Amino acid sequence: MNIHAVLQERFRPALASRVDDPTELLEMIRPSAQDAADYQANFAMPLKGVLGKSPRDIAGEIVGEVDVSDMFEPPEVAGPGFINLRLKTDWLRDQLQSAVADERLSIPPAADPLTIVIDYSSPNVAKPMHVGHIRSTVIGDAIYRILQFLGHNVISDNHVGDWGTQFGMIIYGYKNFLSAEAFETNPVGELSRLYKLVSQLEAYQEAVEKRPAEIAQIAQRKAAIATAEANAPADAKEAKKHKKALKKLQRTLVDCERKLLSAERKIKAVESSPELLALATEHASIHDRALAETARLHEGDEENVRLWNEFLPHCRDDMLRIYQRLGVTFDRELGESFYHDRLAGVIENLRAKGLAEDSEGAVCVFFGESETPMIVQKSDGAYLYSTTDLATIDYRMAEWNPDVILYVVDHRQHDHFAKLFKVARQLGHDVDLRHLAFGTVLGSDGTPYKTREGDAETLDSLLDEAVTRARSVVDQTQAGPTLSENEKQRVASVVGHAAVKYRDLSHNRESDYEFSYEKMLALTGDTAPYLQMGYSRVRSIFEKGGVDVDELRGSGAAIQLNEPAERQLGLQLRQFGEALERAVIDYRPNVLTEYVYALSTAYARFFESCHVLRAESEELKQSRLLLCDLTARTLRRGLELLGIEVLERM
Ligand code: ARG
Repeated sequence: MNIHAVLQERFRPALASRVDDPTELLEMIRPSAQDAADYQANFAMPLKGVLGKSPRDIAGEIVGEVDVSDMFEPPEVAGPGFINLRLKTDWLRDQLQSAVADERLSIPPAADPLTIVIDYSSPNVAKPMHVGHIRSTVIGDAIYRILQFLGHNVISDNHVGDWGTQFGMIIYGYKNFLSAEAFETNPVGELSRLYKLVSQLEAYQEAVEKRPAEIAQIAQRKAAIATAEANAPADAKEAKKHKKALKKLQRTLVDCERKLLSAERKIKAVESSPELLALATEHASIHDRALAETARLHEGDEENVRLWNEFLPHCRDDMLRIYQRLGVTFDRELGESFYHDRLAGVIENLRAKGLAEDSEGAVCVFFGESETPMIVQKSDGAYLYSTTDLATIDYRMAEWNPDVILYVVDHRQHDHFAKLFKVARQLGHDVDLRHLAFGTVLGSDGTPYKTREGDAETLDSLLDEAVTRARSVVDQTQAGPTLSENEKQRVASVVGHAAVKYRDLSHNRESDYEFSYEKMLALTGDTAPYLQMGYSRVRSIFEKGGVDVDELRGSGAAIQLNEPAERQLGLQLRQFGEALERAVIDYRPNVLTEYVYALSTAYARFFESCHVLRAESEELKQSRLLLCDLTARTLRRGLELLGIEVLERM
């Protein structure tokens, strides 16, 4: 039972009889961290203005109308009009007791399960996965796990980018720059070398082409600034305006200079290597040539399709290896290529429904004058990312008829999804479409995380580094020194991977966060190693006390909640289900990380103030062991739903 939800339901009629829409007031019933209350309701204060009475009187009247006596002590009105709600300790104890033998820890599955498709990870393959892929992959996986545990019918679908322009690039690279030997021994390594080489040459040619214009622009800005500086007006008000305009000019100059600098760097990287320079000269307009290869692939050119079929399994293997490291699996993996044959149908359907129009040779869906249209087919006949996404929605609706489709994708795709969802609605799809956006992983300098070489680091090397660093953490844990070197390596692997994932999950998904090995591997605070260690500490009690946990659970021993720290731990344990439900209201795994961290903290307090193995009586010892067991199970389950593995000993 979700205590919080029950409270809201019990208070609803009393509030609904006083205001038209009690939703916001009901939100003001919240779990409380104070000693006097487990939950607190603060809605009497805003009602003062509506009802023209003192909040204390309002609180008193409402409390008189609501019956929560089966679960709560008589509510108390405190201070200016807070309602303090304290659970009956006996009720709480009975609830915990029933969780002892329940696999689901007394969390019932959803009464009305929904069918939910979740689209996450979805990397563009043929280039190595990098730090940017962590977020979608781990956030999506956690949401998938939580929804599934809550009893929904969830389908994870990895919408792999296996059909985009990157394939034209590697096809071009393969045809022109292949080292057959390297491809033989390490196909993925060679493909990614080809990809990088072609993008480097593309970037070089673009930089060279744009450089004169950039230089001219800088000169022009400088001249404009000089003129402006020489003509400062005398009038004070005008002078202020003028100064502002000048500042703006200076800022745009800085932007231009920065752009030029970055272009110069790309140029230098190629020109400092005679070999690269020769390639760049020989392969003029390489960008267009690679695009032509992509177009040929899409038209079904035999050679390019053959190459694509040859490359793809290698790309997939590489992707699956990363997923294995991260402990992530998918129900389906329908990549962009799967939809290729359906794209013409999408355009036809849009036309038939009068939604698409020709515009300068392209096919577009318009949304009125104030908004840019969504292009669904370019003038050269090529389809776009949006066309594929529309075909994907059609397919998912026909295949699973879901209530909800979730897209865990970078916030920079906000506009794409806003338009996509509009068109899907116009097409008549009756489904709740949600873009679960996330922020950027930053380096310590506040810009997107990169290696010292300036590349986005591959996910592989980043995970390797986390594991290497986790190895030295193992020496500082309780059980660390007693483990064999092999066991230490295994612990380091589990901790290193978990640390990367947990640090990501513990941030509000929309925020940016700093990638920091030190922070993610800290042994104190809200980190994976702290929680994993907490779990194995709890488990170590059973070993130390020679306790058979199955026997304990079946013993019928009674839970007691006499000490405040016992009661506080009991309350935290009872709130697991609430945390899960709150985590999926807006699909935020950090609600669950906050919960497991709070539970760990409550356990640490309990362990400090209550003896377990040396409890005053045998009954008390059994009761406390049961609380330890519930804590371990809840922690393990909570972490598992976040995709974080635990260890019995660390
Ligand atoms: N492959 C895309 C990218 O890397 C993400 C795809 C997200 N899913 C979707 N249905 N659009 O940007």
